[in-house]
Amino acid sequence: MDGVVASGSGDSGLANALAETLGWKHLDLETRRFPDTEGYVRVPNDCLDPIRSGPVALVSTTFPDSAILETLFLLDAIRDVRSGEMSSLKGGEVKESDVGPGVFLVIPYYGYSRQDKRFMAGEAISAKFLARTFASHCDGIVVLDIHAPEAMENMGVPVELVSAMPEIAEHLRENVRPDFVLSPDKGAIERASSVANAIDVPFSYLEKKRIDAHTIEHTPKDLDVEGQVVAIVDDMISTGGTICRASDALRRQGAKEVHAACTHGLFTGGAIHRLGNHVDGVHSTNSLPNPRANVSAAKALSRGVKRLIERMSSEIVVQ
Ligand code: R5P
Repeated sequence: MDGVVASGSGDSGLANALAETLGWKHLDLETRRFPDTEGYVRVPNDCLDPIRSGPVALVSTTFPDSAILETLFLLDAIRDVRSGEMSSLKGGEVKESDVGPGVFLVIPYYGYSRQDKRFMAGEAISAKFLARTFASHCDGIVVLDIHAPEAMENMGVPVELVSAMPEIAEHLRENVRPDFVLSPDKGAIERASSVANAIDVPFSYLEKKRIDAHTIEHTPKDLDVEGQVVAIVDDMISTGGTICRASDALRRQGAKEVHAACTHGLFTGGAIHRLGNHVDGVHSTNSLPNPRANVSAAKALSRGVKRLIERMSSEIVVQ
């Protein structure tokens, strides 16, 4: 079933690559800012028919905050175009038929995914709130390597959680040839061990305690890494603190080379420079534009879109 991949002001390169992988057309939707910084979105005239003619995969992230509103506005505009909802159109109403469900939100990086529970009384569970809000404006969601999958449970629309770990494993096998893979905390065990299995090398993990946003501690652990090339694999790198501390532990135990790999390269506040003092290489997907993006997230996202289409094929009308 052919559809279109649409994107707003986010990374059109990734949306374009996803479209190529699926063999679909890529549509650039109109987005701009008013002088007071409020956002404006529009499905341009030449995109109206393609948006109504088959499934639509909107690639949009939830980071930074302005992207959340843009995503919601784009979903609303796309849904209106598909449902024929043109009421209050200046210059007169246009009547179109409703072409039915088929709007999928594809989220390469899910901002707020780390606020997946109440760590203290009175907190908002931001990850769940956002998920529910998006779910009520689309017919299905694809999310790449979400930090806490539980945030996407019971959304009322199909959700496909996909991972770029197969592509990260392939990249590491070809370019780094690790002898050992390490997860820097318990949360990354599943992802990192899948990379170790794919490359067929030994695996271990560290136990991490976060003191604050910038400070973490690892419980000391004996790792058999003397003279080895080690890849530390995590879902995201933000300040780089987790990776730097894990790398220090590996070096103390004789690791010859240490590389860091992640799906989401946030690299906040000098992280790239900090990492440069601790690891021999940094590898990331392009789920967020970043200077270390050397693995494409398009294939992983396409797996999710294909699965959603399969699950919903009986409900989607192709014009
Ligand atoms: C948290 O558990 C995540 O998986 C990452 O380990 C963490 O977000 C990385 O943050 P930072 O780079 O600031 O240590």
